[in-house]
Amino acid sequence: MSSARLVVNNLQKDFILHTQNSAHIPVFNGFSLSVNAGECAVLLGPSGMGKSTFLKCLYGNYKITSGSISLYFEEGDIDIATCSPEWIHGLRRQTIGYVSQFLRVIPRVAAIDLVSEPLLIQGIDKDTAYQQAATLLARLHIPEKLWALSPTTFSGGEQQRINIARGFIADYPVLLLDEPTASLDAKNRAVVVELIHEAKAKGAAIVGIFHDEDVRDKVADNVIDLLEFVA
Ligand SMILES: Nc1ncnc2c1ncn2[C@@H]1O[C@H](COP(=O)(O)OP(=O)(O)O)[C@@H](O)[C@H]1O
Ligand SMILES: [Mg+2]
Repeated sequence: MSSARLVVNNLQKDFILHTQNSAHIPVFNGFSLSVNAGECAVLLGPSGMGKSTFLKCLYGNYKITSGSISLYFEEGDIDIATCSPEWIHGLRRQTIGYVSQFLRVIPRVAAIDLVSEPLLIQGIDKDTAYQQAATLLARLHIPEKLWALSPTTFSGGEQQRINIARGFIADYPVLLLDEPTASLDAKNRAVVVELIHEAKAKGAAIVGIFHDEDVRDKVADNVIDLLEFVA
């Protein structure tokens, strides 16, 4: 796995709601953060503070108001805040994994296909991809009888574990985790902690939001309170 360092400098994010009298919603300002390969930075802050918004800025979903989001690779540097959509697309395939707070379920797409997709996109053959997906699904205690089904009908916790498997399967150099353990039991929380430790050992730079203090304590190298940067 190639490694990357993530450096966020002086980030400001405001939302402008054009359909609602251009309402102006400042979220955060002056936010800086540096995450080296093999480290996990954890974001703290009450609900509505902008934690998910920050991860979406890092994933290139949201445009930022000002500041920079730099990725330093062996091959060179890139600013996620200003690079082209083609670059964002490439980064999502090869470099940045994102476990969103909620799984976007697609009817008729089987759980095992959702989980193996990131590897197939990287050109890995279907047998290998399925095997790795099966290993992860089993580790996350998803019963085998569910693997061929669409997660549409799965419980919240099962959907979350599918999302986690999809995020961890491809050994991304950068991992963004938005409350991945929020609706998991202790046994599955422990698996997620293991997966995070393994990813760090392989050199991933991780930014995470964790509901549970216990998980936070086990994985964090650095804890940043977003409250200090409220706009
Ligand atoms: N797409 C959006 N458009 C407008 N406002 C948004 C959008 N996404 C989030 N917000 C606002 O930004 C603030 C931070 O939200 P969020 O990042 O989801 O917080 P957290 O993850 O810390 O609970 C909230 O006030 C929310 O209403
Ligand atoms: Mg959130």
